[in-house]
Amino acid sequence: MTHVLHRRIAHSYPFAVSGHGITIRDSAGKEYIDASGGAAVSCLGHSHPDVLRAMREQIDKLAYAHTSFFTTQVAEELADDLVAHAPDGIGHVLFVSGGSEAIEAALKLARQYFVESGEPQRRYFIARRQSYHGTTLGALAVGGREWQRREFAPLLIETRHVSPAYEYRGRRVDETPQAYGERLARELDAKITELGADHVIAFVAETVVGASLGAVPAPPGYFQRVREICDRHRILLILDEVMCGMGRTGTLHACEQEEIAPDLMAIAKGLGGGYAPIGALLIQDKIFATVAGGSGAFQHGHTYMGHPLACAAALAVQGVIRRDKLLANVRTQGAYLSRRLNERFGNHPYVGDVRGRGLFQGIELVADRGTKEPFDPGLKLHARVKSEAMARGLMVYPMGGTVDGVRGDHVLLAPPFIVEAPLLDTVVERLGEAIDAATAS
Ligand SMILES: Cc1ncc(COP(=O)(O)O)c(C=O)c1O
Repeated sequence: MTHVLHRRIAHSYPFAVSGHGITIRDSAGKEYIDASGGAAVSCLGHSHPDVLRAMREQIDKLAYAHTSFFTTQVAEELADDLVAHAPDGIGHVLFVSGGSEAIEAALKLARQYFVESGEPQRRYFIARRQSYHGTTLGALAVGGREWQRREFAPLLIETRHVSPAYEYRGRRVDETPQAYGERLARELDAKITELGADHVIAFVAETVVGASLGAVPAPPGYFQRVREICDRHRILLILDEVMCGMGRTGTLHACEQEEIAPDLMAIAKGLGGGYAPIGALLIQDKIFATVAGGSGAFQHGHTYMGHPLACAAALAVQGVIRRDKLLANVRTQGAYLSRRLNERFGNHPYVGDVRGRGLFQGIELVADRGTKEPFDPGLKLHARVKSEAMARGLMVYPMGGTVDGVRGDHVLLAPPFIVEAPLLDTVVERLGEAIDAATAS
C-alpha cells in the first residue's frame, strides 16, 4: 500500500526506474517511448550525459544558497543566457521552480508595477477560456478550464475570460483565418472597454495553447492585434510559454513566430528539461525600472528560487540545444511528424483535426467528423487512449474538456528535440493502434 497521494488515488502507477534517450523503463522491464516528454518537459530526453555532468559539477561545489543572502555564478550565467536570447526589451529574469510559480509571479509583478506606477485601481486580469496556466490559486483564476476552476471559484481573483483562439471550432465557414483572428481581437478590445481600461492589469494567454486544447496556434495576425490593443489600453501582455516555449515550436520562444514581444513571459518545462524543477519569469525593462526606481523590491519570493542545481541543469540543457542545433531538428522532425499524423489520421473516422507547430502536435478526437460532435464525456476517451498507449509502450498526453471544458478529447504529442524520423513512425503507428482500440468498444 502506498503512502503517496497520487494524482489518481485508485490508479496503480508503474514504477519508473530508469530513463535513457527517448525511453523510460519501468520496474517490470517494460519500455515506453516518451513521445510527450512527460508533459512537454523532457526536451533532451532522459539521462543526457552533458546535463548530468553539469549537475554533478555544480553539486560538488554548492547545492544550495538562499537568495536573500547570496547570488550564484550559475544563476547569473543562466539569466545572462536567457536575456541574450529573449524577445526585445526583456532585461531581467526571476527564477522560480515551475510553471505555476512563474505565472503567480507574473500576476503579482504586473499588479505591483501598476501600484508603483500610481494606478492602484487596476485589479482585473483578462484571460481565455480553455487555457491552462497552472494549479495554484492565481494561475487557476486566470486559467480557463471550467472543470478545474469550478469548486475553487469563491477563492479566485478577479478574472474575466474571452474566447480561445481555436480555429477548428471557433472559425465560421464564411470567415478567413485572418478575419477570425480579427473578430477575437475585437472581443478582447470590447472586454477591456466593458471593464474600464484603467481597471485592467493584463491579458494572459498561452502563445500556442497546450494541455487544454492540444497544440493550437492562434490565427495569423491575432497576436499582433492583441499586442496593439494592450498597448493602446496600456495594459500588460503576459504570455504563458511554460509548455510551448523554449524551442518546442521550432523557435526558442513561440512568440518569435508571432513577431511580438510580451511584457512578462512565463517559461518552465523545457527550460530545465525535467532534470531539475525550474521556471522563470522574463521581465520587460519598463516593469523592472518602475519597481527598481520605486519600492526597490518585488514583494515575492520562494525558498528554492534560483536553486543552483536547477540553474546548472537549465544552463546545460540550453547549451546542448544550441550546440547541437536542435531547434533545426525540431522544425524538420516537427514537419515530418505533422505529415505522418496527417497521413495516418487525415481520414480517420474519429479524428477531426491535426494541428500544431514544431514538435508540439495535437489531434482532436470526435465521434462524428462531419458535425464535429465530440464523444460522450462519460466515456473518458482520453483516459482510454492513454492507457491503450501505455499498454503499447507509448507515452502521449491525452486530455478531455477540449470543446468547452467538459466535452471533447485530444491527444498531445511533444517528443524530445533529439527525436528522429524512424522513431516518429513507431510513435504514429502505436498511437493509431491505441486510438483504434480505445474507440472500438
Ligand atoms: C501553459 C502552462 N502554464 C502553466 C503550467 C503550470 O506549470 P507547472 O505544472 O510546472 O506548475 C503548465 C503545466 O502544464 C502549462 O502547460
